[in-house]
Amino acid sequence: MHVLAITNQKGGVGKTTTAVNVAAALTKLKQRVLLVDLDPQGNATTGSGLDKSNLSYSIYDILLDPQLAQGDIFSLSQAGYHVLPANRNLAGAEVELVEGERREYRLKEALAICSDRYDIVLIDCPPTLNLLTINGLAAATKVIIPMQCEYYALEGLSDLVQTVRQVRGHLNPHLEIEGIVRTLLDPRNALAQQVSEQLQKHFGDKVYNTPIPRNVRLAEAPSHGLSAIDYDGSSKGAKAYVQLTQEILQRLTEVKVK
Ligand SMILES: Nc1ncnc2c1ncn2[C@@H]1O[C@H](COP(=O)(O)OP(=O)(O)O)[C@@H](O)[C@H]1O
Ligand SMILES: [Mg+2]
Repeated sequence: MHVLAITNQKGGVGKTTTAVNVAAALTKLKQRVLLVDLDPQGNATTGSGLDKSNLSYSIYDILLDPQLAQGDIFSLSQAGYHVLPANRNLAGAEVELVEGERREYRLKEALAICSDRYDIVLIDCPPTLNLLTINGLAAATKVIIPMQCEYYALEGLSDLVQTVRQVRGHLNPHLEIEGIVRTLLDPRNALAQQVSEQLQKHFGDKVYNTPIPRNVRLAEAPSHGLSAIDYDGSSKGAKAYVQLTQEILQRLTEVKVK
């Protein structure tokens, strides 16, 4: 089971859009997928067609009692992948967890329990480096970083590389950056193109070949509780996410010869 944390401490860079669309595309590729919503805003939850105000179980329950993962507690999205959903209760979990034992490893414990039920777990992280994100990074085997190609992006990225290094040192020795996704790319924006090129120069192969263009279908789909792939599969945004997902899957299953 691969556990991919989708993270960036900036908000609005396309983390949730990437999580939902990659989850849907992986499902179409016959992967058994669990999407974990670690953001109290619950955007991945609503974007998957679930009602935030009416959840029988949420990630909040799991963080307080990871053993609950033994049961059949996961919600089914409209697209057919499973969801461990979130709502505003989750903001309280952070406070309650601070005193808890092994507080950084709650999600990891829960995922270990259901590791034979899924091929890929995607974790949609909140835009802050809090105990929730730490739970995500401690549980993950790999990190995927969505990045909007703008002037300050590279600076933010070096903070993130630093964070991953620290988590590796303290909590999760095998954590690696799996890839960087260029999101919200406007091909007519010269600065975005420059930043995109710089990214490729600095990070080489880590940058996925497929960029995600700015596309209105990607922004519309969540209000229908769908990924863009299920909402309008012929849109540029949906096609880009399908192509990116193929790339992600290929990279995950590649045998690395050193
Ligand atoms: N490629 C895109 N094209 C158009 N709108 C996008 C795209 N990616 C994300 N959005 C929109 O931008 C906003 C922020 O995206 P989101 O995925 O929620 O970011 P994050 O989870 O990093 O905060 C949302 O309203 C989303 O619908
Ligand atoms: Mg989000």
